[in-house]
Amino acid sequence: MSEKYYLTTPIYYVNAAPHIGHTYTTIAADAIKRYKTMQGFNVTLATGTDEHGQKVERSAKATNKSPEEFTDLVSEEFREQWKKFNLSIDRFQRTSDPKHRETVQWLFKRCLDRGFIYPSSYTGQYCTSCELYVTDAKPGDPCPDCGRPTETVTEENYFFKLSAFEDKLLALFEANPGFLEPAIRRNEALAFLKGGLKDLSITRTTIKWGIPVPVPGNHVFYVWFDALIAYMTAVKDTEGLWPADLHLIGKEIVRFHAIFWPAFLMAADLPVPKKIFAHGWLLFENDKMSKSRGNIVRAEPIREVMGADALRYFLLREIVFGSDGTFSFDALVARFNSDLANGLGNLASRTLSMIHQYRGGIVPASTEECPFEVRKAIAATLTAYENFEFSKALEAVWGLIAAADKFIVQQAPWTLAKKTEPELIAKLDHTLYCAAEVVRIATVLLAPVLPESCDKIWAQLGMPGNVGGVHFGSLEWGQLAAGQLTNKPEPVFMRIDPVPAIEKMRELEIAETKRQNLLLGKLEEKTGITIDTPTIAIDDFVKIDLRVGQVLSAERVKGSDKLLHMKIDIGESQPRTIVGGIAEAYTAEQMLGRKVVIVANLAPRKLKGIESQGMVVAASVEGGKPVIAGFLEEIPIGARLK
Ligand code: MSP
Repeated sequence: MSEKYYLTTPIYYVNAAPHIGHTYTTIAADAIKRYKTMQGFNVTLATGTDEHGQKVERSAKATNKSPEEFTDLVSEEFREQWKKFNLSIDRFQRTSDPKHRETVQWLFKRCLDRGFIYPSSYTGQYCTSCELYVTDAKPGDPCPDCGRPTETVTEENYFFKLSAFEDKLLALFEANPGFLEPAIRRNEALAFLKGGLKDLSITRTTIKWGIPVPVPGNHVFYVWFDALIAYMTAVKDTEGLWPADLHLIGKEIVRFHAIFWPAFLMAADLPVPKKIFAHGWLLFENDKMSKSRGNIVRAEPIREVMGADALRYFLLREIVFGSDGTFSFDALVARFNSDLANGLGNLASRTLSMIHQYRGGIVPASTEECPFEVRKAIAATLTAYENFEFSKALEAVWGLIAAADKFIVQQAPWTLAKKTEPELIAKLDHTLYCAAEVVRIATVLLAPVLPESCDKIWAQLGMPGNVGGVHFGSLEWGQLAAGQLTNKPEPVFMRIDPVPAIEKMRELEIAETKRQNLLLGKLEEKTGITIDTPTIAIDDFVKIDLRVGQVLSAERVKGSDKLLHMKIDIGESQPRTIVGGIAEAYTAEQMLGRKVVIVANLAPRKLKGIESQGMVVAASVEGGKPVIAGFLEEIPIGARLK
């Protein structure tokens, strides 16, 4: 029996529909699963949805649904998304599943019986948005994560004795240098640990939508105690799968996974996970993706226009796994064209076409040595995969592809094909064999990242079965059988024209956002708006002096995420200093030179110590980013709007 390997993604909150950030983690987990399977492991991949808590209760209410109905709907969105991407998920664990309730209650009792849980009263500042108490915050303080105001809450809670686990956790980190990777996250977690651990409140009486705590009173489990245990619930019915071999997570939830979670398990006398790997953040055009910036990218439009493998390749090649990275549509299409269409796709199709043209589709025999450093490339790829260094692994394969391309050009098979001397016929055979063998080996090595495309190339090579079923251990030069009949080459990656493709993706993106917003009750359809502000006379309107201005300089106000400090020329002898709350939507560079509408006679006011002499006019919807008013036609600076 092959050795088991159990890996997980985070279980995703259902207060947002799936976006490219969730897809990033889940694609990476799927690639690891495929890689481990090809290494010979019996792999189980679990993901799921995190469905309890106040935020979900509120979202359900906003859509006139019960929490059950609401979570069914959003959870299904995630399942659908993973199906469309053909991600090889074995377990999808929902926290609202009765099986999960049992596991959480069981684990709680184990911790309680061992004396690691006790009741106490708690007063603290709570952020309902992040579902976290903000330690050391005073009433009125904002949440350090999301900036929203915190609420003061006092309640009778059950506490977990996290403080009792400092030494044990330190010992765990000491004994297992690879327990938490990459090193930057390990160092952060160790620093946190060494700073001392406070006990954790793990239940709430203020929330209804949650798992009941098996004690008298109306306690429900608080988000993290409930959520983390889902990793166990997912495999509780299968002997021998726990502990997890890998929890793959984003960097923002390291503390919960590397400190809280092992402590809960130690308290319950259960084995802790073997490894936690935290990847970085996916930014959109260098900016954090957020609802308020209105720049959330969804994976589905990309899949529809370019295919699942295009996105998988981009995310795993472009971004150093573990570090932050940027997504952009331009870079996505550029990578596709250069690496997939021109690189792998071109090598596969030209090789197979030549085999068809010169050898009737039959792989010729080669009598000469392999001209490439194949062993080195295979070893480099597999080592990189083992360390989750996807971009390095892919680079190594592309090194081999480039060597094969160069070799083909040097050998010039198109010239050899016209020759009749036996040594030149053999040279052509050798060239074709080597090119095809590189395609075969590349296809095996790339199967974890490009499963769909590699299967197609595999079939065109005339290889049996699926490439994902091949064992990496069998990768050796020369296994492509001479005499094998190949199939007709069909291009696997067609070059993509960037402009229409990006336009189409953006169009689909807008439609998808609208659909998801409706589903989640985030925004009502903006039809039938009733405007009930009191009417004003024209004399009132002319009191407002609106002018065309041009932005001469702009910079972020220090200590504020929202404010931009601008100098704006509105035709007076001196430019105006204007501080606007638009920095979350526009960078300083984007504002430079822009013509905007200014309220020129607004009484000056100080913002962060800077006197603002007017206001930039912008439109915004609830929860959306501001959009600045501007002009399509030329208009001189200082012109009045009336
Ligand atoms: N429900 C918790 C996790 C509980 S696990 C026991 C949660 N959910 S979440 O929906 O917010 O998902 C967070 C995870 O989604 C991140 O850890 C990461 O894996 C992925 N990502 C979400 N947005 C992301 C980016 N912009 N970039 C990269 N990954 C991101 O936290």
